[in-house]
Amino acid sequence: MNILRFSDLCAQDRVRGQRVFIRADLNVPLDAQGAITEDTRIRASVPCIRMALDAGAAVMVTSHLGRPTEGEFKPEDSLAPVARRLAELLGREVPLVAGWVDGVQVAPGQVVLLENCRVNKGEKKNSEALARKMAQLCDIFVNDAFGTAHRAEGTTYGIAQFAPIACAGPLLAAEIDAIGKALAHPRRPLAAIVAGSKVSTKLTILQSLARNVDQLIVGGGIANTFMLAAGLPIGKSLAEADLVGEARAVIEAMKARGAEVPIPTDVVVAKTFAADAPATVKRATDVQDDDLILDIGPETAARLAAQLKGAGTIVWNGPVGVFEFEAFAQGTRAIAQAIAASSAFSIAGGGDTLAAIAKFGIEKDVGYISTGGGAFLEVLEGKTLPAFEILEKRAAG
Ligand code: 3PG
Repeated sequence: MNILRFSDLCAQDRVRGQRVFIRADLNVPLDAQGAITEDTRIRASVPCIRMALDAGAAVMVTSHLGRPTEGEFKPEDSLAPVARRLAELLGREVPLVAGWVDGVQVAPGQVVLLENCRVNKGEKKNSEALARKMAQLCDIFVNDAFGTAHRAEGTTYGIAQFAPIACAGPLLAAEIDAIGKALAHPRRPLAAIVAGSKVSTKLTILQSLARNVDQLIVGGGIANTFMLAAGLPIGKSLAEADLVGEARAVIEAMKARGAEVPIPTDVVVAKTFAADAPATVKRATDVQDDDLILDIGPETAARLAAQLKGAGTIVWNGPVGVFEFEAFAQGTRAIAQAIAASSAFSIAGGGDTLAAIAKFGIEKDVGYISTGGGAFLEVLEGKTLPAFEILEKRAAG
């Protein structure tokens, strides 16, 4: 991919004294009290900010947080908790600047965090007027927000059109390199785990993986729909009955290539969705009308774990059960441990997947952990993300 890299500009000493505007993805989960519950994205954004500071730039960083209403700033939309965490990680003050579109005061060697960019009117729809104003704030625009690279918004696309220089930060570049490595010439067998609540939100990725992977392991509500497609009972479990035909088509497409979608042979069920609901292991054929499937069973977990141990490449998006509840965490734990024990090159992405990786303590054993959710899936599908498209255009002159 032919894009300008910020690291190259720094190495050529073209950044000293310049105003650098970094679009990061600092969209982290917060609890009801507004405390950060998982900070991978903030930690992953630090190298780019350090690189800019070390190169002698005046540094502005912004991100979205959640999906606020444009023009209506509410306290819960504030990046204040992010500014505090960033300050801890950088070991320096990170002032938070609101109302920044018309001008920002920042000197070389300093860093400021610009308040939630999605509160600015025109951000989501990529208004040209907003993009031009933001572009005037800087000499160099750096997109380091891989997690938002699938959105063509003011700070991910428009500003890159009009800034004097537009380039990719180290995180954005590393993500695309790692995913490219995993999928362009993967070591086989290539196994993908795609889990989550709905087939509908991941149908295109399932269809595209079905053309490429050797094992397509489905989990969560997605697996329930595949169980229906395989003629199994699922009780009152979450599923999309109207997509059974699509699920069957994915199974057939895999079969036609001599590949497989492993369907659970045993499951863990409960009568209610609760952490303390009694968990029962059942044969997949024995699920009753009032059962909720909340995890794969031990036999299925062992079979999948054995397959993953023998894989050459593993792509992981989504936990296979309700791993937040201990009684239904065994399936996802087994998958995580199998990935950790496998010699395969593994790549994982998505918010829930990151949380599972942290819970089971396998960070160091995963080949590459992506900060992207939707963006990760779209790259796996083979799409060119808007953030890359505009940087390629700019590099081409
Ligand atoms: C994400 O959490 O996947 C990214 O930050 C993008 O957020 P969005 O789906 O609200 O655009």
